[in-house]
Amino acid sequence: MALITLREVLDKAAVGNYGVGGFNVNNMEQIQAIMDAARETNSPVILQASRGARTYANDKFLYHLMIAATEVYPEIPTVLHQDHGSKEACLSAVDMGFTSVMIDGSLQADHKTPASYEENVAVTKEVVAYAHAKGVSVEAELGVIGGIEDGAGAGDMKSDYLTDPDQAVQFVEETGVDALAVAIGTSHGVYKFAEKPDGSVLVMDRIIEINKRLPNTHIVMHGSSSVPQELLAQINQYGGQIKPTFGVPIEEIQLGIQHGVRKVNVDTDTRLAITAAIRKFFIEHPDKFDPREYMTEARTANKVMIAERMKAFGQAGHAGDFS
Ligand code: G3H
Ligand code: 13P
Ligand code: ZN
Repeated sequence: MALITLREVLDKAAVGNYGVGGFNVNNMEQIQAIMDAARETNSPVILQASRGARTYANDKFLYHLMIAATEVYPEIPTVLHQDHGSKEACLSAVDMGFTSVMIDGSLQADHKTPASYEENVAVTKEVVAYAHAKGVSVEAELGVIGGIEDGAGAGDMKSDYLTDPDQAVQFVEETGVDALAVAIGTSHGVYKFAEKPDGSVLVMDRIIEINKRLPNTHIVMHGSSSVPQELLAQINQYGGQIKPTFGVPIEEIQLGIQHGVRKVNVDTDTRLAITAAIRKFFIEHPDKFDPREYMTEARTANKVMIAERMKAFGQAGHAGDFS
């Protein structure tokens, strides 16, 4: 039972009106942290690997680590998801045994220039045909999310990069995707907002509009790390140099969940939790050099953060929905 598709998880989340974190993984400890948090909170899980993660860890290592998670935590329903895939990455993920892929057709092959609507539809349809034939779910993106995609923070986002609600209706009809990632002013990475965001930069109204027009479509929020101020403070206290920055407030994510957001992507908060723990450990224990000691601290800090998110998104207590 452990391996399930994104569609299965998000359909249940819609019935239960909760959100599910899509947590990025690159190594064993990150996977263990997520699974430990899921066991502690009795949550379903979405493990997601970017193209960079697959290159870093090597496809085979990462895939088998995720499969190991489903064996060690058989009571936890788990989705293996390709995050921000090209067509090639999505197809190879399907072939490898992922249960879900995200085709990021919002940009051209240079990963910088926004793709036309028609280009996005064409590549998304190709991936949907391939994936659905093998029972694999598909997430696609309309609009441009900042950070990895345009090299800009949210403050630099052009308003025409935001998802157009009418076009969203057409896109979902034309492509048949299982979930739609929308651009609402969030960006990837740590530098999202110069101050706590208001509705002029974090445009939650777009989600409300899209949900009104597409009440049966699962909406995905990317760039949804909250960038906890205490983690920034800990990193900087122990020698880091991260400049002042703000993330997406948890209450805004919860507002989104009330309006059709079912998947919430979080990567940066994981990186911050791990880095804060390791920096503290090294300063406090300059004599230590066993990676198992500092990686244990990092894994625990990561687990604590993820368990908090699982509770805040509402997925906690829902692992049993799938049995
Ligand atoms: O969507 C972006 C994720 O944070 C993955 O980042 O491409 O550096 O692995 P990455
Ligand atoms: P963050 O950088 O805000 O964690 O976003 C992660 C993400 O959207 C992965 O696809
Ligand atoms: Zn993303």
